[in-house]
Amino acid sequence: MPCERRTFLQVAACFTLSAAALGLNAADTAALPITEGDGQQSGNEVRYPIPPSDGVTIDRKVQVIIVRYQSHLYAFNLACPHENNVLKWLPKDGRFQCTKHDSQYTPVGVYTSGRATRNMDRLGVRRDGDTLVVELDKFYQSDKNSAGWAAAVVAL
Ligand code: FES
Repeated sequence: MPCERRTFLQVAACFTLSAAALGLNAADTAALPITEGDGQQSGNEVRYPIPPSDGVTIDRKVQVIIVRYQSHLYAFNLACPHENNVLKWLPKDGRFQCTKHDSQYTPVGVYTSGRATRNMDRLGVRRDGDTLVVELDKFYQSDKNSAGWAAAVVAL
C-alpha cells in the first residue's frame, strides 16, 4: 500500500556521509530495497521464501525484519533495543534508524550511534531448502549473549 510505505520510508539527504561513516560503499547500500512481507507462521516459527536479492523485508504481523545482505540472511526484532520504538529502514542511507532517540544501525544490525546500548536484537534463523525459518522463541541480545547473536545468521 503506497501510503503505508510512504509513512514507513524516510528519505534522508546525507547518503554519502552516512554510508562512509558505516564503512559501506554506495554499491552496497543502494541495492537494498524495502518490501512488506507476510510470513507463514506455525507455532513459534515463521517461514519466508528466501529473498532473491539483497533487501529488507518488514513483517508487521509478527514484528520481524528480514534482511538479505551480502549473501547472508538475518532476522531482527522490529522494536528498537532501547525503548521498543519501531525501527525504520532508510534505503537511501543504507541503515536502520530509530526515530525516538535517533539510534542508528547497519544493515546487519550493528549499533553505530544514538541512545541504545546494544545492537538490534536478532532472532534465531535456519534454512530449509528455499525457505528461511525464523524462530520467534530464540531471541538474542548482543550484550547478554554475544556468541548467540553473532551466530544468528544463515550464509547463502
Ligand atoms: S527507543 Fe530507540 S533509541 Fe530510544
